[in-house]
Amino acid sequence: MKLLFATQNSHKLFEIKHLIPSNIELIDLKSINFSEEIPEDFDTLEQNASQKSWFIFNKTGINCFADDTGLEIEALGGKPGVLSARYAGEVKSSTDNVKKVLSELKNISNRNCRFRTIISLIIDSKEQLFEGVVNGKIISKPTGYEGFGYDPIFIPDGFLQTFAEMPISEKNKISHRALAFNKLKTFLEAF
Ligand code: IMP
Repeated sequence: MKLLFATQNSHKLFEIKHLIPSNIELIDLKSINFSEEIPEDFDTLEQNASQKSWFIFNKTGINCFADDTGLEIEALGGKPGVLSARYAGEVKSSTDNVKKVLSELKNISNRNCRFRTIISLIIDSKEQLFEGVVNGKIISKPTGYEGFGYDPIFIPDGFLQTFAEMPISEKNKISHRALAFNKLKTFLEAF
């Protein structure tokens, strides 16, 4: 079966390629010359992932999936959530996003948070959602250079290092994205 990953982010495609079983032919938007911007208008990860995959499915008629991820901080009522990429502005600067989170959490002792990934898969007009969650804490000073986004301030529960201090291979074993994509993989293996 041909399956289209509804993302314009080629880094993401590379990262998850090995997680897709070999009975599936994974293709990207570039390979079908699709360059339209994909809408992301909602305020939950579920709705955004769903909107993206239905948008692509309706335009192309090809079975596909889309993902959406956010960092949800308890003391901030779940923020930045769907705003994670552009929390400090449309420039989407990770450094500024991290600074904003740290300043909002100044003097707040509850540092509980979680990364959550939702994948929406559409096969023959039927949608299925998969969720991956990793709980952790926000530390007060960015530490480590690996990864991206909020990795330098996130320590997953049960660990002593931030995501940015872990080799990418370690992060990929326990991350929200890995958990969600492993569920997708198990589901697709049955095809
Ligand atoms: P996306 O939905 O995968 O594009 O993720 C949205 C935003 O969430 C990214 O731009 C990052 O700011 C943040 N994010 C997602 N996954 C991670 C991660 O694994 N580590 C750190 N930040 C992440």
